[in-house]
Amino acid sequence: MVEERVVSGMRPTGALHLGHFHGALKNWVRLQSEHPCLFFVADWHALTTHYETPEVVEENVWDMVIDWLAAGIDPAQATLFIQSRVPEHAELHVLLSMTTPLAWRERVPSYKDQQEKLADRDLSTYGFLGYPLLQAADVLVYRAKYVPVGEDQVPHIEMMREVARRFNHVYGREPGFEDKAKAAAKKLGSRKAKVYMELRTKYQEKGDAEALAAARALLEKQGNLSVADRERLFGYLEGGGRMILVEPEALLTEASKLPGVDGQKMSKSYNNTISLRSVRKKIRTMPTDPARVKRSDPGDPEKCPVWQLHLVYSDEKTRQWANQGCRTAGIGCLECKQPVIDAVLAEQGPMRERAQKYLDDPTLVRNIVADGCEKARKLARETMREVREAMGLAYT
Ligand code: TRP
Ligand code: SF4
Repeated sequence: MVEERVVSGMRPTGALHLGHFHGALKNWVRLQSEHPCLFFVADWHALTTHYETPEVVEENVWDMVIDWLAAGIDPAQATLFIQSRVPEHAELHVLLSMTTPLAWRERVPSYKDQQEKLADRDLSTYGFLGYPLLQAADVLVYRAKYVPVGEDQVPHIEMMREVARRFNHVYGREPGFEDKAKAAAKKLGSRKAKVYMELRTKYQEKGDAEALAAARALLEKQGNLSVADRERLFGYLEGGGRMILVEPEALLTEASKLPGVDGQKMSKSYNNTISLRSVRKKIRTMPTDPARVKRSDPGDPEKCPVWQLHLVYSDEKTRQWANQGCRTAGIGCLECKQPVIDAVLAEQGPMRERAQKYLDDPTLVRNIVADGCEKARKLARETMREVREAMGLAYT
């Protein structure tokens, strides 16, 4: 059985907040028991926008890993590492840059968006231009199948797919490809080889998508093939050359319904986050329905971001109490916030507990990450060997 790897990264540009927890992290925790997962701190990506403040990146790297562990990421299941400790990402980035048209980069909407949104930062750098290609290298270097990301990242995944496809197209052609592919098919055993060839014909002659899926599943179950033969059979199936790089798919993280302190989506760029480490203060100072100037002014929960938190955190009874109390001025806003504060803190109880041992002994996290870097490098090196060879760089 060939592993369907999952890869994702986070930029260490600030403390993690409740939105990360309810969005990306919950998803990662679920995935770690279903797939081999690689999760990394994208410190190079952080520097593309924060190169003038490297101390911000430095400060957040270890805290970020601790927050992941606190949220339930299990280093016995998932591989945790730091991007810059796996230089193969950079090597693949350079090599992919040879075949990637500039226009692809400019087509990614986040390029212009970010430049507008972060107008106070200098984003007219070579590094920022390369952002999505570096991201492509992050994933392709592990031949990952799935990339859990938010909706805003989908164009980046699309670009990764194009980059992989183009690479395979340009470098997947080898002399005698067809004969080599047929020889590889024979190694499946005569019965499976026949099924594979029939499915291939169905797909290529009639565009039968089910046949394609069935043939892929057949190959994925095949454990005894060499990497090169696998690439040939996947490529031959679709009518191309060897599939050296895998086209990954986005696994959409359901957008967390959690609002920020201003009622908009919680996001660092809106400056409205509830950080995992300052819940009480953040919620106590959170704005409420502006109509409630005095304690005796009735309010409307629909106009209050605290109500949105009740919808996520409170049971029916508490909601009724808040709703009623608000509309009749029966309760004050601080009173209304208390059950939300309690619920968030209760939710975080196990997280704080898990975090404690890592806070007490920083070498634990260092060791987890050192192990992760080593595992990641081993996988990345395998891909790079193939990539170098395909690009004619394996001089002997
Ligand atoms: N660009 C991603 C973000 O801003 C972070 C990231 C970097 C990433 N490399 C990645 C995500 C590879 C998934 C896979 O959220
Ligand atoms: Fe918001 Fe609660 Fe105050 Fe009403 S009572 S305005 S819902 S915090």
